[in-house]
Amino acid sequence: MSDTWAMPSGVPDLPPGHIHAWRLRTERDPAAGLALLSAEERQRADRFRTDLLRARYVVAHAALRLLLGRALDVPPNRLRFRRNSWGKPELAEGDLRFNLSHSGPWAVVALGRGIEVGVDVEAVSHPPPLEVAGIAYSAAERAVLAGLSGPVLTAAFYAVWTRKEALSKGIGRGFSFDFTGFTVSADPAERTSRPVLPPDLAGADWHLHDLPPLEGAAAAVAVPSAGIGIAAWRFEPGLWGL
Ligand SMILES: CC(C)(COP(=O)(O)OP(=O)(O)OC[C@H]1O[C@@H](n2cnc3c(N)ncnc32)[C@H](O)[C@@H]1OP(=O)(O)O)[C@@H](O)C(=O)NCCC(=O)NCCS
Repeated sequence: MSDTWAMPSGVPDLPPGHIHAWRLRTERDPAAGLALLSAEERQRADRFRTDLLRARYVVAHAALRLLLGRALDVPPNRLRFRRNSWGKPELAEGDLRFNLSHSGPWAVVALGRGIEVGVDVEAVSHPPPLEVAGIAYSAAERAVLAGLSGPVLTAAFYAVWTRKEALSKGIGRGFSFDFTGFTVSADPAERTSRPVLPPDLAGADWHLHDLPPLEGAAAAVAVPSAGIGIAAWRFEPGLWGL
């Protein structure tokens, strides 16, 4: 994968065997996006306490619909979703798979044809919330972090966090997955890695890929096999009518 988010000229084709990750800034006027959302999504948007949180949600979900609609050649407001038993949203029909993550001003949408995918973006705070490692990181991950400090510790902390959450979202279990029961690389330089999975996932071949740098955030995707091409794109809302 390239180490930058590329600006596409037009909308790139999404061939089989490839994942496209799109990053966007969500802090903008949500009016155009609202028109694309379902009644249920609009109700969810209305429950946010501040205009900023509402805008982030609306813009992220409108972008998701635009990207899926373009990949399927279907109007974005006609898409129908369902959830798996752990809450992972999926399209009601077809083999297009996707996952969404948002944190602070950023959202990332990952999609692929017939390829399960998980994505996570996390706004970085320095120092990092180390109490999260105490409850959600494996013993091996905590041991690595214990030997680090300063910006190196922060980078390792978020590499672990985004890789773990991308994996849990890829397999579709979210926080129902025991986060302490599997181990990911804590080396920020190891931009592609394989997790050490728990026994019930023995035989699975999940791969983790860090996405290119984002201002003030870290992001990773998880895919279920080797050899999947991953491209990172900029989603410029204005160009998509958002
Ligand atoms: C998925 C989950 C790990 C997300 O964590 P997060 O860091 O807060 O948020 P992210 O922005 O990375 O991801 C949120 C998106 O992931 C997707 N998602 C939700 N459940 C998911 C799951 N089980 N697997 C993969 N993706 C999931 C949704 O698109 C969601 O976006 P939305 O809330 O705007 O619709 C977590 O919310 C989860 O496990 N949810 C399902 C179970 C649940 O709701 N438990 C409540 C606790 S009792």
